[in-house]
Amino acid sequence: MIEVRKASLDDYPVIQGIAHNTWQHTYLPILSQGQVDYMLDMMYSAEAYREQVSEKGHHFLLASESDAFLGFASYELNYSPEITKIHKLYVLPEAQGKGIGQKLLAVIENEASKNTNDKIVLNVNRYNKAVNFYQKSGFIKIGEEDINIGNGYLMEDFIMQKFIK
Ligand SMILES: CC(C)(COP(=O)(O)OP(=O)(O)OC[C@H]1O[C@@H](n2cnc3c(N)ncnc32)[C@H](O)[C@@H]1OP(=O)(O)O)[C@@H](O)C(=O)NCCC(=O)NCCS
Repeated sequence: MIEVRKASLDDYPVIQGIAHNTWQHTYLPILSQGQVDYMLDMMYSAEAYREQVSEKGHHFLLASESDAFLGFASYELNYSPEITKIHKLYVLPEAQGKGIGQKLLAVIENEASKNTNDKIVLNVNRYNKAVNFYQKSGFIKIGEEDINIGNGYLMEDFIMQKFIK
């Protein structure tokens, strides 16, 4: 059975491990190794994780099955009025397609709803197959943006949104 629990500061090594594994698989077909390494360092260093959890109000979730950690997500309630933002959603390549992404999404929607947020937003790379997962899960594209992240690298994203009850 897939279980989802909140992650704490102590879970950093697990989250970093899942991120590094999943990122190579997801982004090497669409980004350079240099950009993947640069972004992993920027977003998943121990200091970046501490800052996200302790200062930026990002909530992390960990999904597991039989004590093996298989995926994680992070989200921010009240990112703007009544809006929750999903910052991260990653499932290990070998565990994809088993409903873990959907389960993490359901927990986030429930938390958003409990906090009277009625909309979820996220950014996703325009060339990432995850766009299809989000569309299937009820998100629609509401725009696109290119974000300059330094070192000559761009994030070429769709902005997607879903209304929740
Ligand atoms: C995108 C991701 C989080 C989805 O999680 P998952 O556990 O693999 O997806 P689920 O098994 O919960 O799938 C839920 C539904 O979406 C569909 N789906 C999943 N991935 C899909 C894809 N790439 N294209 C089309 N549909 C997809 C599934 O078929 C399923 O539909 P069903 O219920 O009708 O069978 C996961 O595949 C992943 O981590 N991908 C790589 C990392 C990534 O791109 N993350 C997003 C960054 S913004």
